[in-house]
Amino acid sequence: MNKLTIDDLKLKDKRVLVRVDFNVPLNEKKEVTDDTRIVESLPTIKKILNDGGKAILMSHLGRPKGKDPNLSLAPVAKRLEKLLRWPAKFVDDCIGEKVEKAVSELKSSEYLLLENLRFYPQEEKNDPEFAKSLAKLGDIYINDAFGTAHRAHASTEGVTRYFKECAAGYLMQKELKYLGMTLSDPKKPFVAILGGSKISGKIDVIKNLMDKVDTLLIGGGMAFTFYKALGKEIGSSLLEEDKVGLAQDILKEAEKKKLDFLLPVDFLIASEAREDASTRVVDKDSIPQGWKGLDIGPKTVELYKDKLSNAKTVVWNGPMGVFEIDKFSKGTREVAQKLAQITEGSAVTIVGGGDSVAALAKDNLEKRMSHVSTGGGASLEFLEGKTLPGIAALTDKK
Ligand code: 3PG
Repeated sequence: MNKLTIDDLKLKDKRVLVRVDFNVPLNEKKEVTDDTRIVESLPTIKKILNDGGKAILMSHLGRPKGKDPNLSLAPVAKRLEKLLRWPAKFVDDCIGEKVEKAVSELKSSEYLLLENLRFYPQEEKNDPEFAKSLAKLGDIYINDAFGTAHRAHASTEGVTRYFKECAAGYLMQKELKYLGMTLSDPKKPFVAILGGSKISGKIDVIKNLMDKVDTLLIGGGMAFTFYKALGKEIGSSLLEEDKVGLAQDILKEAEKKKLDFLLPVDFLIASEAREDASTRVVDKDSIPQGWKGLDIGPKTVELYKDKLSNAKTVVWNGPMGVFEIDKFSKGTREVAQKLAQITEGSAVTIVGGGDSVAALAKDNLEKRMSHVSTGGGASLEFLEGKTLPGIAALTDKK
């Protein structure tokens, strides 16, 4: 990575303004139910505190319309305090006099969490005045919010214009190392597994990865739009009618490139996606009317596992079926288990996207992957080959 990193900066006694992605789920009691993103940012925060810097942490939470107390970051401060075993300071705003005072009272090796940036609509509008007010709070700027790097917002992009030095934190560095490797220098064979319900969200990823992978395995609801494009009967399975032409183009392109492009060969079908629905396994072109494919079938599981056996790099985004319902989760879970197994060998496995990560969590497999991305939309856009504004805005290394 040719961007400045936290290790290039002198942090002692500096006010370090850090953009983190603490957009984490909360329950009705306002407790954090998944603290992965907070835990993943701890190395950056600890480095600042250990080096005697003053950490000013800022994040968004959810998509509030104005100041919404349900989306306050106060519960995150509580969790941070527990994780860091270091008292948290929290201020119920993110710009203005009150915040500036709290920052000025901050001592070295202390940290302060600001209130939800999106309580101000100016954040998402990348408003220069708002960005300037944020910039006033720090001497240097660090972006550790990979999950929000695809947004050109005031705290990720606008703010960088007011700093001489803008660096990547450790989480940002880790994400770029793993995801960057898949695009620039993957160990071969390189296999991509793409699933999920819709082809529309994955088209650009498929197109970009086609030139890089040796094998592309397709699963999930999007497989049916491909089968429709091949003129097959798909029963009542999920179909994106307006994407059939695009699916045809992708299939033609794959053929031209002689790419090992695989669609499921069989499916687990039911009349409805319900735990108590009766199911059947059928071959790919035998889905009767009134039935829908809700998971890949056993032959496909074996075929995909076989393709993964020798892989040295694997990127996975999107489940193979309706994994939220146990009955239709087998395909997704078997793929996840296989990835855990090959990671123990010498393969590098990278998982992105909320659903695939949730599927890993079902069997506690997150730690058995080489890297689980904290970015949903951001990891997809990265794999599409797009420049992420939050990364582009960081200072280049000399
Ligand atoms: C995410 O959860 O993907 C990031 O925090 C970005 O959130 P957003 O999609 O609301 O911008």
